[in-house]
Amino acid sequence: MEERKVPEHIGIIMDGNGRWAKKRGLPRSEGHKAGANVFRRICDYADEIGIKYITFYAFSTENWRRPPDEVAALMDLFRDYLHEAEERREENKEKGMRIHFIGHREGVPQDITELFDTTEEESRDAGRIDVNIAINYGGRLEITDAVKAIARKVKSGELDPEDITEDDISANIYTAGQPDPDLIIRPSGEYRLSNFLLWQSAYSEFWTTDILWPDFTTDDFDRAIDDYNSRARRFGAV
Ligand code: IPE
Ligand code: IPE
Ligand code: MG
Repeated sequence: MEERKVPEHIGIIMDGNGRWAKKRGLPRSEGHKAGANVFRRICDYADEIGIKYITFYAFSTENWRRPPDEVAALMDLFRDYLHEAEERREENKEKGMRIHFIGHREGVPQDITELFDTTEEESRDAGRIDVNIAINYGGRLEITDAVKAIARKVKSGELDPEDITEDDISANIYTAGQPDPDLIIRPSGEYRLSNFLLWQSAYSEFWTTDILWPDFTTDDFDRAIDDYNSRARRFGAV
């Protein structure tokens, strides 16, 4: 049997928490709690099987439209995770997890962005797996931010507009220096990107399942990778 290729970078849109809770007559926040535990499990598993980069979509720039109590419950879960990361600093270092928070910092409560900074700082030297957690993330906002950074260079005379390349955009987005995702997984039976990694997903393979995120297992993750192995990635060539 041919050996299975593990994608270098996987993106996951963690969707379906609300429906999972509804099916059980629970508040939506319970679905988010269950989803957060699956996030931890899949993160560890990705490391175990040798994935180098993984990006989890946790909160979009559009998710602020949800009821305030739901937004507050999500922020509390982010706080729990961040405190836990602080407590497990040594363990995470051993695991080699380098954590990055990608998204727009403005608008996120300050105590949380401060914890983003310490968590990133403390995991900086780890190097086995890069874990991106997308919070207050929107692909369009990310590209807009990149355009602003490039425009500033043009204004200061550092860069000629004629010399702007795709690489300049790639160098100014939140995932600068990382490879684009090979595979994007979306559970919960939706077939859309919902503003996730718009620039980076130009040639990503897409895999969906009806399973809701809190029910998603390492076996499902393996199924996605197996399926990825059967895809012919042509990148426009023959
Ligand atoms: C994903 O689950 C979590 C976030 C978007 C923060 P949802 O809360 O979107 O769950 P559904 O789609 O309503 O089931
Ligand atoms: C996408 O899920 C955002 C995250 C998983 C964080 P949504 O549930 O917000 O997406 P839509 O609204 O169904 O497109
Ligand atoms: Mg949803």
